Amino acid sequence: MADRILVCVAWPYANGPIHLGHLAGCYLPADIFARYHRTAGNDVLMVSGSDQHGTPVTVRAEQEGSSPAEVAARYHAEFLETWRRMGISFEEHGLFTTTGTKNHEATVHRIFLALKERGYLYRGSMPLMYCVNDQRFLPDRYVTGTCPNCASDHARGDQCDECGRPLNGVELIDPKCTFCGARPEVRESEHYFLKLSAFNQQLLDWLRDEGQYQAINGARTKRSFWRPAVFNFSERFLAEGLHDRAITRDIEWGVAVPEPGWEHKRIYVWFEAVIGYLSAAIEASERQGVSDRWKSFWQDPTARIYNFIGKDNTPFHTIIWPAILMAYGGLNLPYDVPANEFLSIEGKQFSTSRNWAVWAQDYLDRYDPDPLRFLLTANMPETGDTDFSWREFLRRNNDELVATYGNLVHRVLTFTYRNFDRSVPTPGPLDEPSQELLRRVDAVIPAVGRHLTECHFREALRGAMDLARESNRYLDERAPWKTLKTDRAATATTLHTALTAIAGLKQLFSPFLPFSSQKLHELLGREGTPEAEGRRVVIPIPGQAIPEPAPLFVKLEEQIIEEETARLGQPR
Ligand code: MF3
Ligand code: ZN
Repeated sequence: MADRILVCVAWPYANGPIHLGHLAGCYLPADIFARYHRTAGNDVLMVSGSDQHGTPVTVRAEQEGSSPAEVAARYHAEFLETWRRMGISFEEHGLFTTTGTKNHEATVHRIFLALKERGYLYRGSMPLMYCVNDQRFLPDRYVTGTCPNCASDHARGDQCDECGRPLNGVELIDPKCTFCGARPEVRESEHYFLKLSAFNQQLLDWLRDEGQYQAINGARTKRSFWRPAVFNFSERFLAEGLHDRAITRDIEWGVAVPEPGWEHKRIYVWFEAVIGYLSAAIEASERQGVSDRWKSFWQDPTARIYNFIGKDNTPFHTIIWPAILMAYGGLNLPYDVPANEFLSIEGKQFSTSRNWAVWAQDYLDRYDPDPLRFLLTANMPETGDTDFSWREFLRRNNDELVATYGNLVHRVLTFTYRNFDRSVPTPGPLDEPSQELLRRVDAVIPAVGRHLTECHFREALRGAMDLARESNRYLDERAPWKTLKTDRAATATTLHTALTAIAGLKQLFSPFLPFSSQKLHELLGREGTPEAEGRRVVIPIPGQAIPEPAPLFVKLEEQIIEEETARLGQPR
């Protein structure tokens, strides 16, 4: 039976464009994962959307002198455009919506009221930062200061980026109002609190639970199945003890609190955004005309939910969201939370203010999507931070995509096209080296599949690339350009074997390189899409016509390194 896989991807704040850090952090791995599982015949739903509430969006609107709604709408449209151009397949696999929908509000209210009913939400008074100059409360990003946990001097009222701890504004040492820089005072305000403390033990038990993962890879526990950084961070967090957290704010932008008299407060962005995974699955099902479909992902315990996120989002996905789900009951908890670490650019941390960034749309104005997908996967920050450099981009494109994979494909196709009547040759009996290569193809496909199932994207890509190298070696050794005059039958066998290996490579690369895989699919004379063929090699049929070959990738000139690095840090 097909596995049911819900691919949940972090909701980007609709306050700025997508950059390479976002792509490497979660959108690209989630897309590869969804594409792979669909091709493997599994039932996949991929959901996310614009996170349009919270102080990141209101701060931006205030800077621009526009409204949060206007900012959110603009970036939402840009996100959709980026996904389309980059091949991030929300459209094919599910939905990229926003937290501004009626359906989302209704889902959030349903959960809020159920938790309140059960005593997991309670009202209390809370000390908050208040700026006397600006005459307003300073929730979340409206206050900055020194982290009480790691002493970083640029922690914000919601979280410290340095150590990843969620914070409350009043915990900051040396707090400053972001509007006027003055030291705010503490004032009490009434809020709703989530009784996180009630779930401390249950969360630890869940985290340390045994047995759930046996079916996949022999690893039985989250400790062995999850990424070590994600597991260890979460376990430490729980071992230190959970404190209840306020889940409403003194602001005017966000999801309303479903309670009379609370018109001037809103639900905290993190409490409602994570509920988006559920509300988006419901919305996707409705749009697909199968309104109960979401239940097969959220209620059937055999379904698997993956949360693709950047590491700064970890506690919200391994602790707070599971606690909300436990409090609500009847819905599946995350199966895996494959958080990625950070991607630096030319050795330096991303910075929007200094424009030390490569923006996805700018990249796409100048280059094809697949070379970037290739580099970001080969260099994915799965187990530690990694760096993007234009030199590395050029090298991977020229040496690996063009010289290894692309060249193999181009040599085989042009030689076949020119010398075998523009069609797939008929092979003779297979000699040992040809059999050996085909055995390798058959072995690599499931091996790469296993790596992908375990969210080991770099390993998976390496497996595919190794096969491309071996196929190249086979071709060089067989030298069909030499045997053509002397032994046409053996040459036909070589080409047919190489074409079969290429058909296998097309399947292997298709989740990573969707655009060039489609192109190659057509160059092999096939109709439809590589995905429709499933995870198997469709052996080229002798006599099948092939169109005139064209290169899959283009070589990039050395000079782009200088051009591109010169752009970094320049005003946009
Ligand atoms: N908007 C958050 C960020 O960019 C991520 C939210 S993920 C969600 O860091 F699940 F909460 F939506
Ligand atoms: Zn800190």
